[in-house]
Amino acid sequence: MLLFTAPADLKSHLEEIHGPKTTLGLLPTMGALHNGHLELMRRAVAENDLTVASIFVNPLQFNNPDDLTKYPRTLDEDCAMLEAAGCDLVFAPSAEDMYAQPPTLKLDFGQLEHVMEGAFRPGHFNGVGIVVARLFHIVQPDRAYFGQKDLQQVAVVRRLVEDLAFPLELVVCPTVREADGLAMSSRNRRLNPQERVLAPLIFRTLSEAKERLLAGQTVADVKQRVREQFARQPEFSLEYFEVADARSLQPVAATLSDGQTALCIAANLGAVRLIDNVLF
Ligand code: PAJ
Repeated sequence: MLLFTAPADLKSHLEEIHGPKTTLGLLPTMGALHNGHLELMRRAVAENDLTVASIFVNPLQFNNPDDLTKYPRTLDEDCAMLEAAGCDLVFAPSAEDMYAQPPTLKLDFGQLEHVMEGAFRPGHFNGVGIVVARLFHIVQPDRAYFGQKDLQQVAVVRRLVEDLAFPLELVVCPTVREADGLAMSSRNRRLNPQERVLAPLIFRTLSEAKERLLAGQTVADVKQRVREQFARQPEFSLEYFEVADARSLQPVAATLSDGQTALCIAANLGAVRLIDNVLF
């Protein structure tokens, strides 16, 4: 496995080895890898002749400076895990490598900006869009792999690909969970042991809410119940619980009949912000 830090070096290497008969899969990450990332990597390896994983803690997408400073950075372990999963190339630029000049372009994803992650993390999706577009230009993958864990990010990247006509296929992979249901996340390693025990409440709440909706309870009643459940848990602070259309992420007043309803949650547990979602 080869490691690159300069975009130009990676680009010229790829120009040499990525011919018209080879397919190239890209997995963009911010590192601190876990089995969720590795599932995406394994899928990329299975579906492509060549694979690139990027590891870059993208300052542009952090609206909370503390979150950026505390984001775990474990490059050596990440590279070992990627190599074991069959990855061919790792791209791990520094912030200077990636942004020689700070980008001034601003991306506006319309309605997607005004709900959930867009509403609670102003500027976040602009930062995601800029870095993902840059990665697509540098790597020019045939397929790019993203996790359903970040459902709204998938919708944003889908818009980016469609609106800017990136010639690639977006592959969305299911959320990988711990045995107790907690969605794997790089941020989980910042939970203390007591918080780690409490964290599965997020997925339990989503699963219970889904059951209630399937049993015919109204969206308004289910939302109210979730708010009450979290109000009884002082360790948590619920940011949002939303029932939304899984494609547009806009809130819905009733579940959709085409299997595209998403239940989405964001909550702070101590100092760690966790998100999760289920579809049905
Ligand atoms: P990061 O949080 O490192 O996630 C990289 C990819 O792994 C994302 O597509 C994310 O949805 C996916 N992923 C994370 N946890 C997962 C899980 N438990 N199951 C399945 N997939 C999971 O998302 C980002 O980085 C950044 O925003 C990025 C796209 C790299 C742009 O900076």
